[in-house]
Amino acid sequence: LGFLSKPVEKVLRVGTSPDFPPFEYVDEKTGEVVGIDIDLIKAIANRLGYKVQIVSMDFDGLIPALEQGQVDVVISGMTITEERAKRVDFSIPYWKADQAIIVSKGSSFKPLKIEDLVNHTVGVQSGTTAEQLLDSYVSKGYNINVKRYSSYTLAVQDLINGRVDAVVVDSPVANTLAKKYSVEVAATITTGEEYGIAVKKGNKALLDQINKALSEILNSSEWDSIISKYMG
Ligand code: ARG
Repeated sequence: LGFLSKPVEKVLRVGTSPDFPPFEYVDEKTGEVVGIDIDLIKAIANRLGYKVQIVSMDFDGLIPALEQGQVDVVISGMTITEERAKRVDFSIPYWKADQAIIVSKGSSFKPLKIEDLVNHTVGVQSGTTAEQLLDSYVSKGYNINVKRYSSYTLAVQDLINGRVDAVVVDSPVANTLAKKYSVEVAATITTGEEYGIAVKKGNKALLDQINKALSEILNSSEWDSIISKYMG
């Protein structure tokens, strides 16, 4: 009776940390994970004949989940770094970002650079390049009290509640947070990061397919409509 059933669609298990608008976040009305990254991986999966299954987890669990085979790909505004590239393989880049310092709206604390965070409490998400940036200043002797959160959602809540003085987060996300919540961008720190999609180390077959579909999409009007849907 095989001819009566639909062809079995392969499932692509996609790991993401949905606390990072406009790339991945939970839609307040539907409870669904949405964003640029989600639409992008769906567009890629669609071209490759996969159905997408979103697997939400903390950012610092994403690379271990790939290594342990719990997910097939990770898309999560993840910066391509040398350190990470030892553990996973990255696609071609699809986005450029810097870091930003955000404070609560109307705050008298106006940091313009990382050095200005000395003697203050600063929130970041664990396992991110923002955390690495702050830790590098701490190890150089700057007295910054780094408060680590499992998600940026919690860090921003604490910023609004006054439990931290600032949050360091990727610049495009900072700009989106400033539109959605009572926070403002105090400074941008140029770091020149690029986002990539990650697969398990050595999964060349999948990576090649992803890169082909990704480069097609990046050069298509589909990409422009995804961006304007979430940033327009
Ligand atoms: N780009 C930064 C990094 O790779 C932050 C990514 C955080 N992503 C997220 N979905 N929370 O470390």
